[in-house]
Amino acid sequence: MDEACKVVLITGSSRGIGAAIAEVFAKQGALLSITGRNKDKLSEVAKKCKENGSKQVLETIADLTKEEDMNKLMEETIKTFGKLDVLVNNAAMLHVASVEDYTGESFDKILSVNLKAPIYLTKIAKPHLVLTKGNIVNMSSIVTTRTFEGYFMYGITKSGINYFTKTTAARTIRYFLKIDNFCKMYIYIGYRTDSERRCFYIPHAFYFAGFAKDGIRCNAICPGLIATDIYLNFMPKEIVETALTAEASLLNGKVATVEDVANMAVFLASEKAAMVTGECIVIDGGRFITKINE
Ligand SMILES: NC(=O)c1ccc[n+]([C@@H]2O[C@H](COP(=O)([O-])OP(=O)(O)OC[C@H]3O[C@@H](n4cnc5c(N)ncnc54)[C@H](OP(=O)(O)O)[C@@H]3O)[C@@H](O)[C@H]2O)c1
Repeated sequence: MDEACKVVLITGSSRGIGAAIAEVFAKQGALLSITGRNKDKLSEVAKKCKENGSKQVLETIADLTKEEDMNKLMEETIKTFGKLDVLVNNAAMLHVASVEDYTGESFDKILSVNLKAPIYLTKIAKPHLVLTKGNIVNMSSIVTTRTFEGYFMYGITKSGINYFTKTTAARTIRYFLKIDNFCKMYIYIGYRTDSERRCFYIPHAFYFAGFAKDGIRCNAICPGLIATDIYLNFMPKEIVETALTAEASLLNGKVATVEDVANMAVFLASEKAAMVTGECIVIDGGRFITKINE
């Protein structure tokens, strides 16, 4: 795949990590389909991407809680560029609440944006990715590696992203060969029943290749805490700053930046990562390892 004329669709690209991903892809000359709900912010990102080297940037206003908006997003992308090489499922929202404060309504909302939208977009992107042997980068989170106070709903959606990433990339299922007295061979998928256990079976691992059989890779990135609107929108700045200090890594006390995450997304989408699929890669300067050991 020629990096310079890749078509890349990035959700949640009106600001934060998604905007940084768009800008790094733009530097490589990629053609971009960017999307969000905020028209002005999206246009600002489009302008920067063009300045950074992208020849064409499509802006689509879409609410990812609506399937019709996602259909429109995909249709416009294909109509404009004629193909899709990379889908970056980046958009997400945060909802901080304890179990005691849980409401079905808030869970439905976060589930829609953070998990159902990436699944639906993957489904409608697949026919196009098959043609380009393209790939998917999902945005997960450090919350999948340890527990955070109040983040259980967000964490469930991001753990779902990790599972979805792995099963989309490649699935494994066991099968068994049974040979009867007439030397006839039968294939059984799944687990043997007790009566079947008494027969002569040859166990085999059998790989249902998932998207891998179509040459499509799928990976996820799990960033640590990064200063973006996702927190600043509903937490006082001082609390975010305290959290950023607490999350400082062993790498010179730094936390990762939106550019660090964007560089990883561009790497995973590139031919340099041709043999990487089903991975959920943590970017937090090693902080999560030290947390586990505390
Ligand atoms: N920042 C962190 O510390 C951190 C850490 C780990 C993982 N992440 C993950 O990184 C990704 C990007 O986060 P961020 O920090 O860049 O967040 P952000 O600054 O809040 O940006 C979120 C993006 O998602 C879009 N979005 C949200 N709800 C949407 C909806 N219903 N329909 C369409 N677009 C929607 C927003 O666009 P509009 O407002 O224009 O609609 C915006 O572009 C997310 O998946 C997040 O979970 C972030």
